[in-house]
Amino acid sequence: MAVIESLLQFLSTGTLLGALLLLLVLYLLSSGSRSQKEEKEPPGPKPVPLLGNLLTLDLKRPFDTFFELSKTYGNIFQVFLGPRKTVVLVGYKTVKEALVNYAEEFGDRKIEPGFRIMNDEHGILFSNGENWREMRRFALSNLRDFGMGKRGSEEKIIEEIQFLKGEFDKFEGKPFDTTQPVNYAVSNIISAIVYGSRFEYTDPRFTDMVDRANENVRVLGSASMMLYNIFPWLGPFLNSKRIAVRNALRNRAEMTKLFTGLLETLNPLDRRGFVDSFLIRKQNDEQSCKEDSYFHDENLIVTVGNLFSAGTDTTGTTLRWGLMLMAKYPHIQDRVYEEIDRVIGGRKPVVEDRKKLPYTDAVIHEIQRLANIVPMSLPHKTSCDVHFNGYFIKKGTTVVPLLTSVLKDPSEWEKPNSFYPEHFLDEKGQFVKRDAFMPFSAGRRVCLGESLARMELFLFFTSVLQSFRFTTPPGVSVDDLDLKGIVGITLNPSPHKLCAIRRS
Ligand code: HEM
Repeated sequence: MAVIESLLQFLSTGTLLGALLLLLVLYLLSSGSRSQKEEKEPPGPKPVPLLGNLLTLDLKRPFDTFFELSKTYGNIFQVFLGPRKTVVLVGYKTVKEALVNYAEEFGDRKIEPGFRIMNDEHGILFSNGENWREMRRFALSNLRDFGMGKRGSEEKIIEEIQFLKGEFDKFEGKPFDTTQPVNYAVSNIISAIVYGSRFEYTDPRFTDMVDRANENVRVLGSASMMLYNIFPWLGPFLNSKRIAVRNALRNRAEMTKLFTGLLETLNPLDRRGFVDSFLIRKQNDEQSCKEDSYFHDENLIVTVGNLFSAGTDTTGTTLRWGLMLMAKYPHIQDRVYEEIDRVIGGRKPVVEDRKKLPYTDAVIHEIQRLANIVPMSLPHKTSCDVHFNGYFIKKGTTVVPLLTSVLKDPSEWEKPNSFYPEHFLDEKGQFVKRDAFMPFSAGRRVCLGESLARMELFLFFTSVLQSFRFTTPPGVSVDDLDLKGIVGITLNPSPHKLCAIRRS
C-alpha cells in the first residue's frame, strides 16, 4: 500500500513537473513569437485615409520634408504616400548599414508606374531578379571591355573635350546656357562606348535623343509624376504622363533605326561597342535555341536607353553645377586654376594628374557632395521581411535611401550646407577620402557607371577650367546663382547663364 502511495505521489509530482515544464516551454514559445510579432514598425506621422501623409509633404522637394521629419521620428521612419507605406532611411550610418550590411534585403528596385512606361521591368535601372542580374553583369563586363573607367574612355573623353571647348568658343565670352553643349559632350562618351562612335552636335538624331533624355529626367521626377505613381488612374489627365509616353515611343523608334544599321554591318570579329556585343550574344543564344534567354530586343532597347540616360544627365548635371559654383565662388576657381597651371601648364590633363592636383580633386568631390544630384537615390524595395535596427519592415515595402541626408549629414561634415572643399583636405593640403561621400549610393545597386563618371568629371572639369574662366553675365550678381536647384529625378541647377572667357 505504501509502495502504491509513493508511486502515485511520484507520478503526480512527475506529472506536475511535466506539466510545469510544458507550460514553461509554451510560455517561452509564445513570448518568443509575441516579441517577434510585437517588433515595432518604424514610427512616423499619422496618416489620413486615402491621402496618407501627402498633405504634409512638399511634393516638389520631398527630400527636404523627409530630412525635416527625421528630426522628429529618427533615422528610420515611415510615411504614407497615399495608401502606400514608404520607409525612409536617414543619415550616413543608417543608409550605409542598410545598403551594405543588408544588401540583399534592401537591394530590390521599386518600379513605379512612371518608370514602367519606358522600362516595363526590363534593362538594369528598373528591373529585378534574374533579368536585372544578367543585364547588370553583361553591361559591367562589356562596358569595361570597351574601356569604361580605363584608358579607352580616357582617350574618348580627351577627344570630346576639344569639341566642347569649340562650342564654348562660339559664344565668344557672351552669356549662354551651358545645358546643351555640356550634355552633348558628356552623352557622346557613353554613346561612343555603346554605339561605337560619337555623334556630331549638329546631328538631329543625336541632339533630339539627348534633349528627350533631359526632358524625361525632369518629367519623371516631377510632382505630377509622383502623384501618378501613387494614383495611376490619374494618368489620362496628366500632361507629364503624355510627354513620358511620347518620348518613350520616339526613343524606341530612333534606337531601333540605329540598331538596324549596326546589325547590317555587324562583324563578330570586330565589335564596335556594347550594342554589337549584345547583338552577337543574342544571335548566339538564338542559334543554340537557348530557351529563356534574356538577350532579346526588349532588353536591348531598355538597357541601352538606361545607359544613355543614366550616363548623360547625371554627369552633365554635376558638371554644370561645377561650372556654376566656380562662377559663384571666384576665389575657389582662382585656386583651382593656379594649381592646374602650376602642375600641368598648357598640356592636356590626363587621369594620372589627379594625384598631383589635391585641391582640384577636393573641389570636384565637394561639387558632387553639395550638388547632391540624386537626393533620394532611386527607390528601393525590400526583397523579404526585414528586421533592421529594432524595426520590422515587411517584404515589398518601398524604401528611400535619403542620399541627401548622407551627403549633408551634420555628424559627418563640418559645414554640411556650405561649399567647403576643405572637407576633402587634410592640414597639409593633401586629398582625403570621406566615408560619407556617397553620391553613387552603395551596395548591390551602386551606380554601375561610377568609374566612368569619376573619370569624366575630372577630365572635363580640369580641361575646361584650364582654358576658360567662368563668370556670371554682366549685371548679374553671384548671389543670384541659387544653390537650391530644380527637381527632377536629378537635382538640376536652376536656369542660369554663364560667360566662358578664354584664358589660352
Ligand atoms: C556623376 C554621375 C553619376 C551619379 C551621381 C550617379 C548616381 C547613381 C545613383 C545614386 C544610382 C542609384 C543607386 C541605387 O539605386 O541605390 C545610380 C544607378 C545607376 N547608374 Fe549612375 N550615376 C552617375 C553616372 C552614371 C553613368 C556615367 C552611368 C553609365 C554607365 C550610370 C549608370 C547607372 C546605372 C545603369 C544604374 C542602375 C544600377 C542598378 O539598378 O543596378 N551612372 N547612379
